[in-house]
Amino acid sequence: MKPYDIAASYLIQRLPRIPSTAIVLGSGLGVFANSLEDTVTVPYAEIPNWPHSTAVGHAGTLLYGRFGSFDLILLSGRAHFYEGYNAQQVTFAVRVMGKLGIRSMVFTNAAGGINLAYEQGTLVLISDHINLQGTNPLIGLNDDAEGARFPDMSDAYCEQYRFAAKQVAAEQHITLAEGVYAALSGPSYETPAEIRYLRTIGADLVGMSTVPEVIVANHMGMKVLAISCVTNMAAGILPQKINHEEVLETGTRVRETLVRYLEALLPRLEA
Ligand code: HPA
Repeated sequence: MKPYDIAASYLIQRLPRIPSTAIVLGSGLGVFANSLEDTVTVPYAEIPNWPHSTAVGHAGTLLYGRFGSFDLILLSGRAHFYEGYNAQQVTFAVRVMGKLGIRSMVFTNAAGGINLAYEQGTLVLISDHINLQGTNPLIGLNDDAEGARFPDMSDAYCEQYRFAAKQVAAEQHITLAEGVYAALSGPSYETPAEIRYLRTIGADLVGMSTVPEVIVANHMGMKVLAISCVTNMAAGILPQKINHEEVLETGTRVRETLVRYLEALLPRLEA
């Protein structure tokens, strides 16, 4: 058995049921967990082979829970490249979700806003990405039983899900922009010159996560929805420096809106 098969077998024992949806929560957004009922908490440290997150603002727990008649797995805390994990470790959680039979993967993250129409706190539906992390989680031997050697990425962010996301945003009177997310390795924030470059190549947002996870989710045939919270405008746009506390604070400020929105949206995503 592979390391992620062992983790999946362990979770099947611990969870009351395997839902069809899992969500990965980024920096400062872990409080979503508080609005779930009937929760079962599994600290990452208890799951065999699971990489523990060390980043501030990342709790490191898997939760099973329910709101209304809808249940889901919530992954609070993720592994990042900048922590020193390799591409397989960064995407381990998503592989486990795929092995469990999860059909819909939802990702949230904190991102820097490059598009000048955004402001701090704007929620952005990711429509596509640019992978500038310098690696790919599918490098290495391919297991054809899990997915194709050369997976198509032309609908990496499921169009049907984006349609639903925009509909629910309109119903809830939530402003939702849509844009292209560029992933860099970090952990240093970008320079102003790098942000001008990213804008030129078509990026609206910049961050340090999500893209490897989305690649693996697509590899395993799961449908993906991803939403960024613009926690700060990217380097060089405003006459101020970027600091991680500001990123966490904006995440906290927006969380109520985001939780309310996700609660309406998630049950509407068809597997
Ligand atoms: N750059 C990269 N990653 C980020 C940023 C940023 O400005 N803000 C939050 N995550």
